[in-house]
Amino acid sequence: MNIIDIINKKRLKQVLSDEEIKYVIDGYLDGTIKDYQMSSLLMAILLNDMTNEEIYALTKYMAETGDKLDLSLLGTNVVDKHSTGGVGDKTTLIIGPIVASCGVKVAKMSGRGLGHTGGTIDKLESIPGFKVDISEKDFVKQVNDIGISIISQTGNIAPADKKIYALRDTTATVSNIPLIASSIMSKKIAAGDKHILLDVKVGSGAFIKTKKDASVLASKMVDIGKKLGKNIEAILTNMDEPLGNYVGNSLEVIEAISVLKGKGNSDLRELSITLATNMVMLAKGLKESAARKLVIDTLDSGKALDKFKEFIKYQHGNPEIVDNYKLLPISKYGYEIKANKSGYITKMDTEEIGKVACLLGAGRATMEDTIDYGAGIIIESKVGNYVKKGNIIATLYTNKNNIDDIASKYLKAITISNYKPNKKKMILGKIK
Ligand code: URA
Repeated sequence: MNIIDIINKKRLKQVLSDEEIKYVIDGYLDGTIKDYQMSSLLMAILLNDMTNEEIYALTKYMAETGDKLDLSLLGTNVVDKHSTGGVGDKTTLIIGPIVASCGVKVAKMSGRGLGHTGGTIDKLESIPGFKVDISEKDFVKQVNDIGISIISQTGNIAPADKKIYALRDTTATVSNIPLIASSIMSKKIAAGDKHILLDVKVGSGAFIKTKKDASVLASKMVDIGKKLGKNIEAILTNMDEPLGNYVGNSLEVIEAISVLKGKGNSDLRELSITLATNMVMLAKGLKESAARKLVIDTLDSGKALDKFKEFIKYQHGNPEIVDNYKLLPISKYGYEIKANKSGYITKMDTEEIGKVACLLGAGRATMEDTIDYGAGIIIESKVGNYVKKGNIIATLYTNKNNIDDIASKYLKAITISNYKPNKKKMILGKIK
């Protein structure tokens, strides 16, 4: 077998065999297949697609390149949730404690932000003292003790995906359904949970921009999961504007806490309730109405907030942040963005807003960059809001002292028109 023949085969739109896919994965990981060869193959895949069988083989072999977590000690009542990535998506911080308080174990490996999207691990690390790199043994013990643990992906979970993802990020081959499906599912398979809920984001702030493509991606991931013995479903959710009002690591922790306190943004609360309901349905086999009632009762009783404090404390963070936000880092400058005309906000280019948050310091351009945990955006006005010229529509937090360019990018990302737009639904569909 040789890589040039394999690249040529894909170039000619032919189907790669199981053995050829394994050869590519192993060869790229051990360095015998070079970056330039892999890039060429990735671009051929992007242009010429993959069959379901090819995607399945790619997923399986990437998952097999590293460790697989053994969660058997936790029984079968263990659930994971995975978002395909968005802006302001802090639902894991809300849902994890809710679901754990409903008696379902949450054993979750999360990622860091990449590109314009944020990551749960960076948000958790903004909490003073919080530890995300925990051994598999301690992770399992914590889930057994308190029902929830969220850790960073250990170095050896699907290492082939890690290497390929980094290459995709620099070769314009991220936004491709077979590559996204296999990348996400290889990590989910290696992470060992029985029940998985996928939150597939659709819209200007997501990697996938249309509902049609998101449905295809969701179906493919659900099929792969089922084939590999998982109880898995996907929900398609709106990412045409940032989720909630806060974007940035410590800012998103604050917004998540406010929802756990029964306050906060109503879209964020509703999406969190829906996702938590579906996780409880998957793991407990409950009907939707019973699961939703359990979730809302748990949230409104304050049990989920208490669980969040317990979870922070167990992972060495300071639980006092819940009652005193001043203990969280917030960057020193707050730069107000004012509407440049009167009218309704009809569109927010959410990918651009995610990029603005990164430029302020909340995200990284490469995995080596460091993050300013206190940087981010408080959004005052969202789609459907009427603003008058000169009203403050957002405040940008940063430790950088000259951000005129960044501020003008934020303003450019917002469309103000003279008609009131229809409110878009948060939940766009479900794939089982
Ligand atoms: N998240 C992943 O883990 N992989 C992708 O390809 C896209 C989003």
